[in-house]
Amino acid sequence: MTATTPLYIASDHAGLHLKNALVEYLPTVGFQAEDVGTYTGESCDYPDFAHRLCQKVLETGGKGILICGTGIGMSIAANRHEGIRAALCTHEFHAQATRAHNDANVLCLGERVTAPGLACLLARIFLTTAFEGGRHAGRIAKLALNTITASK
Ligand code: RB5
Repeated sequence: MTATTPLYIASDHAGLHLKNALVEYLPTVGFQAEDVGTYTGESCDYPDFAHRLCQKVLETGGKGILICGTGIGMSIAANRHEGIRAALCTHEFHAQATRAHNDANVLCLGERVTAPGLACLLARIFLTTAFEGGRHAGRIAKLALNTITASK
């Protein structure tokens, strides 16, 4: 993505410190993220912030970074939005491959799992790796076809 591609970042209370570290770091590598909350350490619900961020990403075609304690709640919540491909990353290869192969548009991180230095590296890799297309494009198209509605 380029420096002008819209970029959003959000967390719950358990991801607040890591979010703040990323908000500070991203401009140093050429990216400016709009912080859509939470802004305090008061307990809050991660689905609310995942939803707020995913709406922005879907409206603009931009990208997003979501942080909670584990990164798991945010990734579950984000992936319930059609058109969002959210990837919980804990390793450099995750961040690289989920862009190149899955065209992920939301990076999820866990503050209780991933230290700030590694989280910054994961974000930089995520934001600078292009989707490879080709055989991966057809696989992504199948994701849109495979929305499953549970029946009783
Ligand atoms: C909050 O305590 C915690 O449950 C939340 O941040 C997240 O880790 C959920 O998946």
